[in-house]
Amino acid sequence: MSTDNSSSDALKKDADEPAAQVPAQKATDEPAAAATGEPAGAIGEPVAAAAPAGDAYLSVRDLRIHFQTDDGLVKSVDGLSFDLERGRTLGIVGESGSGKSVTSLGIMGLHRTSRARISGEVWLDGEELVAADPDRVRRLRGRKMAMIFQDPLSAMHPYYKVGAQIVEAYRVHHKVSRKVAAERAVEMLDRVGIPEPRKRFHDYPHQFSGGMRQRAMIAMSLVNNPELLIADEPTTALDVTVQAQILDLIRDLQKEFGSAVIMITHDLGVVAEVADDLLVMYAGRVIERGSAERVFTNPQHPYTWGLLGSMPRLDRERTDRLNPVKGSPPSLINVPDGCAFHPRCPYASLTGGSSETLVPELREMAPGHFAACHLADDERSRIWTEEIEPKL
Ligand SMILES: Nc1ncnc2c1ncn2[C@@H]1O[C@H](COP(=O)(O)OP(=O)(O)OP(=O)(O)O)[C@@H](O)[C@H]1O
Ligand code: SF4
Ligand SMILES: [Mg+2]
Repeated sequence: MSTDNSSSDALKKDADEPAAQVPAQKATDEPAAAATGEPAGAIGEPVAAAAPAGDAYLSVRDLRIHFQTDDGLVKSVDGLSFDLERGRTLGIVGESGSGKSVTSLGIMGLHRTSRARISGEVWLDGEELVAADPDRVRRLRGRKMAMIFQDPLSAMHPYYKVGAQIVEAYRVHHKVSRKVAAERAVEMLDRVGIPEPRKRFHDYPHQFSGGMRQRAMIAMSLVNNPELLIADEPTTALDVTVQAQILDLIRDLQKEFGSAVIMITHDLGVVAEVADDLLVMYAGRVIERGSAERVFTNPQHPYTWGLLGSMPRLDRERTDRLNPVKGSPPSLINVPDGCAFHPRCPYASLTGGSSETLVPELREMAPGHFAACHLADDERSRIWTEEIEPKL
């Protein structure tokens, strides 16, 4: 928890709004954009844009989130676009530092530092959020969109009891008595697998273990049955049984309320189980997206091949498996020219120099299945058939 948080302003802010919707660490480390008179951190003037056509509940268009730092400009998210319909789950995968959490916080309107430069469009149920008034976006958090944060500590306020925080989160969107809200909070604590929920309701976050705190934060995120749920590594630090319980809970929410879900995880097994669509990120960009079934059975991008190669399989000895992706992800201050993956890609030399010089555009490889890679189609299919598929 950030020390800035102890200021009375931060306290008031957090008391006004349930902590689940404002991770104090992120929201208060700098004055809010509105307070500094900045145009919502956007690059240039906000442009009134028309909503994208189609059925998507969430449409992200050319989202860019850059941070000015002493070392240079960090391009954490650099031109991200995707759509998500109600009732569907989009899995987002990619190595550490690829921009998954920054994207999520960007959609939720939680990059309120003056160093964040945000451009592009985020359409939620027909309403554009990047250029919207931050107060308006704040009102949408909780009921319209909620997030399960990767770090449970950043979502729960240390000075308030767990139950009281969930009660407040509920009452922001429901005109009910504290008693009714408390019943709802206890029900949610129970549903996320917290034993003796009536008793634990009165505990402070520090009285919970890490795993319990994560469950309490999940209860708080789900208490309003959000229409869009962004779950950022929701099951890390939880044991397998609880993991399954949480995934079931998210599924129930989706079934009952037709919610759209974004599931961010390092665990490709979880993605394979829950995602309808899959988006693979590398260095702040989308390098492959399509239906989860297509991407798992017929991946098109060499980075995705590496990721899938690192997925544990019960039916095969590790000796004949593909190697996971070698090397480390690039610095987002000095993203390599051309394809950002080229220093690590075993096939970069097969593209006549394009890999090192030209940023590959996302290309539709099959209906609804896109990948950003310069490899010629026949070369790609040869590599897939001869080298990759037999080893996956
Ligand atoms: N406020 C900030 N200022 C500067 N750089 C930032 C800021 N927030 C994030 N970054 C940088 O943006 C990049 C993307 O970070 P992000 O947290 O989105 O990664 P991630 O994909 O969620 O990784 P992980 O899988 O480890 O959670 C990282 O290089 C990170 O250091
Ligand atoms: S564009 Fe080149 S470097 Fe990038 S993934 Fe394709 S072959 Fe590899
Ligand atoms: Mg993250």
